[in-house]
Amino acid sequence: SVSSAFDFAGALFPLSTSGGARYTALGTPSTPAFDHAGGSSGSLERNKSLTYLNGLSLVIGLIIGSGIFSSPASVNVNAGSPGASLAVWTIAGLLAWTGAASYAELGGAIPLNGGAQVYLSKIFGEWAGFLFTWCAVMVLKPGSAAIIAIIFGEYMVRAVIGADAVEVSTWINKAVAVAGLVLVVLLNCVSTKLGTRSADFFMFFKFAALLGVTVVGIVVAATGLSFKGQASDDWKTHGWFEGTSRNPSNWAVALYAGLWAFDGWDNVNYVTGEFKNPRRDLPLTIHTSLPLVIVAYLAANIAYFLVLPLATINSSTTVAVAFGHQVFGPVGSLVLALTVSGSCFGALNATTFTSGRLVYAAGKEGYLPSLFSRLGFGFGNDAIRLPARSKRARWTRLLADDGGFFLTPIPALALNATLTLVYVLVGDFATLTTFYGVAGYSFYFATVLGLLVLRVRDPELERPYRCWIGTPIVFCCVSLFLLSRAVFAQPVQTLVVVAFVAAGVPLYWWQVVRKRAKGRRKVGGEGWWRFWKRWGRS
Ligand code: ARG
Repeated sequence: SVSSAFDFAGALFPLSTSGGARYTALGTPSTPAFDHAGGSSGSLERNKSLTYLNGLSLVIGLIIGSGIFSSPASVNVNAGSPGASLAVWTIAGLLAWTGAASYAELGGAIPLNGGAQVYLSKIFGEWAGFLFTWCAVMVLKPGSAAIIAIIFGEYMVRAVIGADAVEVSTWINKAVAVAGLVLVVLLNCVSTKLGTRSADFFMFFKFAALLGVTVVGIVVAATGLSFKGQASDDWKTHGWFEGTSRNPSNWAVALYAGLWAFDGWDNVNYVTGEFKNPRRDLPLTIHTSLPLVIVAYLAANIAYFLVLPLATINSSTTVAVAFGHQVFGPVGSLVLALTVSGSCFGALNATTFTSGRLVYAAGKEGYLPSLFSRLGFGFGNDAIRLPARSKRARWTRLLADDGGFFLTPIPALALNATLTLVYVLVGDFATLTTFYGVAGYSFYFATVLGLLVLRVRDPELERPYRCWIGTPIVFCCVSLFLLSRAVFAQPVQTLVVVAFVAAGVPLYWWQVVRKRAKGRRKVGGEGWWRFWKRWGRS
């Protein structure tokens, strides 16, 4: 009918909102679906336990993963010279920072768990949040976790069997990847504390590793000493900008490689609702973690250039191991291979922590069966409860959450782990990374665009943190450039992504619109079209 068509347009481009509204964990009255605090099986967001340090380790812990130890070759080859490649790393870092700052504003204005899922829902309507969730739960989160797990496996095998000893079957790599995945998931099932504590530990470990690489690089450059005799002096003889590429396509490819290394900056937004003080800690987390990572990455890259011949950097997908070998010989490559696998393990832990919560939030919204919105094993009151605080043994105090053990979103973690497992086993590395780049950046773009929409539409909304207006604009422009390039360079993969997103539309109708309309008719006698009228608002 005419009126429902109009309602649909209204849902796409909602104009009226309640001025000065504030989104709270209880949701606004017109959107009962966002009542995160309810639920019979307990709620993660009621348990506000995350601190600034946890935020830092969730962001840094995911950002520093495989990229800084293996992407330098593709950045360097495409940028053409060391100077240009440092420029690309800087641009990629700044771009990640503008994205993260935009997300920090959104997270302060809408302090709920779920990240882009809730921002898109509130701004464009629930359908947008649903489509994001559909892609994130089915592909983005498990797909990127699978990439990290595969790299973890490769480096672990390399460390154990010896750097370039024999060709190992990819199945051995995959088996090790699966073992690492299982371990991470178990950690995260036991308690929230164990998940965040390991994330904290790995954050320090990674910084130590990058600092170590930097210091060693400087010492080697200063003294000229290294295991392989004379250290490389390419950096003295080869001009820093000699050979810089003039082709914008090459720069875009280099930028994609750098962006993978910086990706994960949205990780803390998935758990905003669990922060003790999100209004203060979210922007603080972003504005300390990103500059720290940028500096650490630039320093590590300079160290690579100081120690390794350019030809080695350009031809190696495992720069860090080559670095270790150059300086300390076989022991060095062993140590560096272990370091990289440790770094990937930490990133896997950080992404698993938030993926579990994303799936859990999707269950609460009714996007997935309600089983996924349960804490514990999913049968009901099945967690291991603890005695009163004062009577607890020391180790329980260290490892258990306040409520006890296994009060984590175990069904959600299991779903994410299963999908990751499938991608590790059958996934093709190149396909996974392309899909991740195109779909991931489309949603980043849409979400940051949403920030601009929200500023225009709802200027009164309380925003504890406001970023400079140029920040989201820069982010939108650069990501649009990157996306457009991908569309022309890889039209087939882009079509696959579009088809996959589109497949979420009927699912949305089936899972959300239809069910709610049914429920409403029973309760209040409202027609489904009335629901359509509401869903885009607020
Ligand atoms: N930056 C990470 C790395 O270098 C990859 C992060 C993947 N992103 C994600 N959201 N899981 O390995």
